[in-house]
Amino acid sequence: MTTLLTEQIYYDNNQLQIEACSISSIAEQIPTPFYCYSKARLLTNITHCKEAFENYGIDIHYAMKANSNLHILRLMNQQGLGVDMVSAGEMRRAEAAGIPANRMIFSGVGKSETELRQAIETGICQFNVESAEELALLASLMNEYTRPVNIALRVNPNVAVDTHKHITTGTKGNKFGIEATQTLSLFRQYADHPLLNMNGLAMHIGSQICDTAPYHQAISRLLELVNILEAEGMKVSSLDLGGGFGIDYGDGQKLSFEAVAKTIAEATTDFNGKVVIEPGRSLIADAGVLVSRVNYVKQAEPRSFLILDAAMNDLMRPALYQAIHPLVAANTTDYDSNAQSSELKSSELKSSELNSSELKRSELMNVDVVGPVCESTDTFARDYPVSSRTKAGDLMVFLCTGAYCSVMSSGYNSRDIIPEVMISNDEIQIIRQRITQDDLMKFEV
Ligand SMILES: Cc1ncc(COP(=O)(O)O)c(C=O)c1O
Repeated sequence: MTTLLTEQIYYDNNQLQIEACSISSIAEQIPTPFYCYSKARLLTNITHCKEAFENYGIDIHYAMKANSNLHILRLMNQQGLGVDMVSAGEMRRAEAAGIPANRMIFSGVGKSETELRQAIETGICQFNVESAEELALLASLMNEYTRPVNIALRVNPNVAVDTHKHITTGTKGNKFGIEATQTLSLFRQYADHPLLNMNGLAMHIGSQICDTAPYHQAISRLLELVNILEAEGMKVSSLDLGGGFGIDYGDGQKLSFEAVAKTIAEATTDFNGKVVIEPGRSLIADAGVLVSRVNYVKQAEPRSFLILDAAMNDLMRPALYQAIHPLVAANTTDYDSNAQSSELKSSELKSSELNSSELKRSELMNVDVVGPVCESTDTFARDYPVSSRTKAGDLMVFLCTGAYCSVMSSGYNSRDIIPEVMISNDEIQIIRQRITQDDLMKFEV
């Protein structure tokens, strides 16, 4: 089992800290709820990823859908990463962050004609094409251009992945990718096209995968296709193997960069070309937290409700895929005169025991953790243990909310879109301002 708290997000003297700032002190300056990131954690993750993959000559394209805040994209760019994008909006952001076009890959199952044109004109390095229809549209658009584009066909390798059904993408019946035989015929059909450079094959088999076996299996399937095409005289010069590397959300399950890098490197030793990966979550998820305040502890049967000021519009993953984000108190001083957290080193805090080990000498109560939105699915966790001394006004913090969280925020129930804050040592920088109803109403007539 791994630890959830890290060198950068840890307890000191009963206070949850991000780098040198306590969450309580940040919340004195910025009204809750808000997202908060550790720059040092993000940089550590990037460094680990680079160390694991670049050793094998594998290129990293950050899947920016995980978190496309400009500040974060600039950091990714400074670290030399490319991006994997899924919309013209993401391309716009990548450009604004200074990411060069030759480090942009465009994935996505439903790219519009306008988006394809914009990407052609921008001169991106690769289109990951997901259907015969998309390829035909691209071919027809290329009649108007002279500069060739690089194409990788995204294969649906039909492998089973042990993750939530809403985040598997490489199994028959998923909308993503192209079936193997059709991939071969499309590659052959367009091999001699003057402006479509049939460059490679791509895959992305799902997200939050904690086992190397599906990668091994899927890469083998891709390589079978490479062998067939190359035996027929065509060259496959790049393999884009997607992302999906799982992180520890509290159950001790994850996929380390080292393990997946080794699997990929071994599986592709005989491949004579460029290998690319597209990690998203594994770079940013554990660098972020969502800070919220308790509005009420509503006494009820069979369980009381912890009603926070954060809601499903701020953090949608629990409602969308029953995801559980570990929830901890920002300040445990009042919970127990023998409060543990000051004595606990982060390495002693086991993820799935986070609350109970922290509070082992104090009483716990099990609650349903909910937000104020008028939907029953506005529930972050059921039957969840928190200190029985938790009260209105307390700051509660969802861990591992750096990826697929702020990017999914909406203004549902006419709630503000909450700020994002970057911490670097003792510096607090707002990297996305709160978007208020007044801001939003400006766009309405
Ligand atoms: C095409 C593609 N590449 C990469 C990713 C990144 O996945 P993850 O954030 O799980 O690494 C995704 C996410 O869904 C994706 O759709």
